[in-house]
Amino acid sequence: MAVLEIKTAGEPVLKQIAAPVQKIDKRIKKLLDDMAETMYATEGIGIAAPQVGVSLRMVVVDVDGKRYDMINPEILSREGAAVDTEGCLSCPDLFGEVERAEKIHVKFTTRYHKVKELDAEGLLARCIQHEVDHLEGRLFIDIAKNIQKGKPPQREGRVK
Ligand code: CO
Repeated sequence: MAVLEIKTAGEPVLKQIAAPVQKIDKRIKKLLDDMAETMYATEGIGIAAPQVGVSLRMVVVDVDGKRYDMINPEILSREGAAVDTEGCLSCPDLFGEVERAEKIHVKFTTRYHKVKELDAEGLLARCIQHEVDHLEGRLFIDIAKNIQKGKPPQREGRVK
């Protein structure tokens, strides 16, 4: 496994709409592992493939000790609304308030080719929405309010 370089705001790959993964091969599995290692090394709670320069629909999230590797994630439904502070590995030293759905239902494919569905709420739901936004070329700073410099006052170091 390897810690990869994180692309930061201004890099074109972060503005592209990522392509679906067509075939889950060794390269894809290695990329998921490298994304996870990069996320843990930077104390993130989520990472999307475009953040490491690969325009494919893959995200890794680990909000509370359970890691999800999601290939071609699709948010099928959203419920409620909540505002909370977010940061992003690709926007170092910025944080802001982002409104997201409180609960989501997401479908994704695992590295073992299984199609799974998950109900998520709270921080996990927020993190998945943030990562899926990356696949659409959208950064949290595109939609956040009250963007400030520095580290988020709460949950310091927990960025996506
Ligand atoms: Co991010």
